[in-house]
Amino acid sequence: MTKYIVEGGSPLFGEVHVSGAKNAAVAIIPAAVMVRGVCRIENIPQISDVTLLLSILRDLGARIRTINANTMEIDCSSVRNGQVPYEAARRCRASCYMMGALLGRFGQAEVALPGGCDFGGTRPIDQHLKGFKALGAQVEVQSGFVNAQAKDGRLIGSSIFLDKVSVGATINIMLAAATAEGLTVIENVAKEPHIVDVANFLNSMGANIRGAGTDVIKVRGVESLHGGTYSIIPDQIEAGTYMAAVAACGGQVTIRDIIPKHMDCISAKLQEMGVEIQEIEDSLLVRRVGPLNKTNIKTMPYPGFPTDMQPQLAAVLCLAQGTSIITESVWSSRFRYADEFKRMGAQIQVNENLAIIEGVERLSGAKIEACDLRAGAAMIVAALAAQGTSEITNVQYIERGYEDVINKFRLLGGRIAAVEIPDESGDVRNAS
Ligand code: EPZ
Repeated sequence: MTKYIVEGGSPLFGEVHVSGAKNAAVAIIPAAVMVRGVCRIENIPQISDVTLLLSILRDLGARIRTINANTMEIDCSSVRNGQVPYEAARRCRASCYMMGALLGRFGQAEVALPGGCDFGGTRPIDQHLKGFKALGAQVEVQSGFVNAQAKDGRLIGSSIFLDKVSVGATINIMLAAATAEGLTVIENVAKEPHIVDVANFLNSMGANIRGAGTDVIKVRGVESLHGGTYSIIPDQIEAGTYMAAVAACGGQVTIRDIIPKHMDCISAKLQEMGVEIQEIEDSLLVRRVGPLNKTNIKTMPYPGFPTDMQPQLAAVLCLAQGTSIITESVWSSRFRYADEFKRMGAQIQVNENLAIIEGVERLSGAKIEACDLRAGAAMIVAALAAQGTSEITNVQYIERGYEDVINKFRLLGGRIAAVEIPDESGDVRNAS
C-alpha cells in the first residue's frame, strides 16, 4: 500500500507538462478493437486505467507493442470476440466502451456492468443501452452482464435523442454507429473535448463522423476501420488541477502542452477568484500572489464548468475570503471529500448537491483518505496549501488518472513523497 506524505505551506514555482487526456485515452483504447490493422496511438497517459484497458484488449488477443512510455502500437486484426469480465469492468468505468466497440466490430458484445469512481451517486447506463437498441441490437442485462446482439450481425443506422447529456453514452453510441449500416443521428450529445478526440480518432481510422463538439453528431457507417496513427489531446482536467494548486498555494507556474481553448471555463472561474492567467501559445502562465476572492460554481456539461474540476476548486475556495456556493448539477452528489477537508479545518456544509464553503485563514495538515480520483487530487491541492504535514491514503484512486503526479508536483517545489506502508505481509518498500 502507498500513502503520500505532504509538507504544505509553500508556494509553487516552475513549469508542468500536461499528459494526454485520461477520458480520451480510456475511450480510444477500447475503440482500437474496431480497427482491423495497427493503431499507433501517441500521447497516451501512463495511468492505471490505461494499463487495465490494455490488459482487457490483450485478453481478447490484441497484439500491443510499446514504442515508448506514451506511445503504443495496438493490432486488433486477430482479436476474437469475448466476454469482458466483472473483475476488470468493476475497476474501470471506461470498460463499458467495450460494449460499443465489440458491437461495432463483431455485432455482439458481452460486458460486465461497469464500476468506476463512486462519488455518492449511481452511475446508470440506460442511455447507452437506449442507443444500442435504437441501432437494432437486442440488449439483455442479466447476472451482472450486458449482452447485446445485432440482428443479422450488423447494426442499422437510426436517430437517437439522448434523454440526458452523457459523455459515456455519446461515445459508446458513436462507437457502435461507426460501422452500422446507413446514417445515425445522435442529438442532445455531450460536447467535451474528449468526445471530439474520439471522433477524430475514429475518422483517422476511416470512420465518417461529423458534428462532434456540437449538439448533433452524424455518423455514416462504414464497412470497416483501417489502421493509422493518432495523438491524444492534452488533459483539460489534469491541467486544471495544477492551476488549482497554484491558486491554493500561491506562486507562479507555466502549464505547458495544453489547448488553451479547453481551459476557458476553468480559467474564467479562477480569474474571478483573483488568479492571474496569461495565455502564451500552447501554455498558460498562472500566478496568484494576493488574497483569493470567494465565488460560486455550478458544474455543467462542456463548455460549462467541468464537474471533474469541482473538488479541486472546492479546495481553493476553502481558503478564499468569504462564503462560496458550489452546485453540483451533473452528478446527484459529489462531496464525499468534504469530511476530509473538515479534518484540515475547512468550513463546509453539504446539503445534497449543494456545498456552502466559508473560507478560512489557513488549513492545517491532517491524515486524510482519498475517496475517488478527483477528490484525491483535491486532497493533494489542499495538503500542499495547508500548514504542516498531511498523509493521504487510498492514493490508488489518484494514480488512476494522474501520470507521474509526485514528480510533477515536486518539480514545482511541492514537498510530497510516496511512501510504502506495511501491507499484510509486513514488508515495506520505499517508493519515490
Ligand atoms: C464521464 O463519466 C467521465 N468519465 C467522468 O469523469 C465525468 O465526471 C463525466 O463523464 C461527466 O463529465 C470518463 O470519461 C471515463 P456521464 P460518465 O454519462 O460518462 C447520468 C473523472 O473524474 N447518466 O456524462 O459516466 C449520470 O448519472 C470521471 O475523470 C444517466 O442518467 O458520465 C450523470 O448524472 C469521474 N444515464 C450524468 O448523466 C446514462 O446512461 C452524466 O454522466 C448515463 C449517464
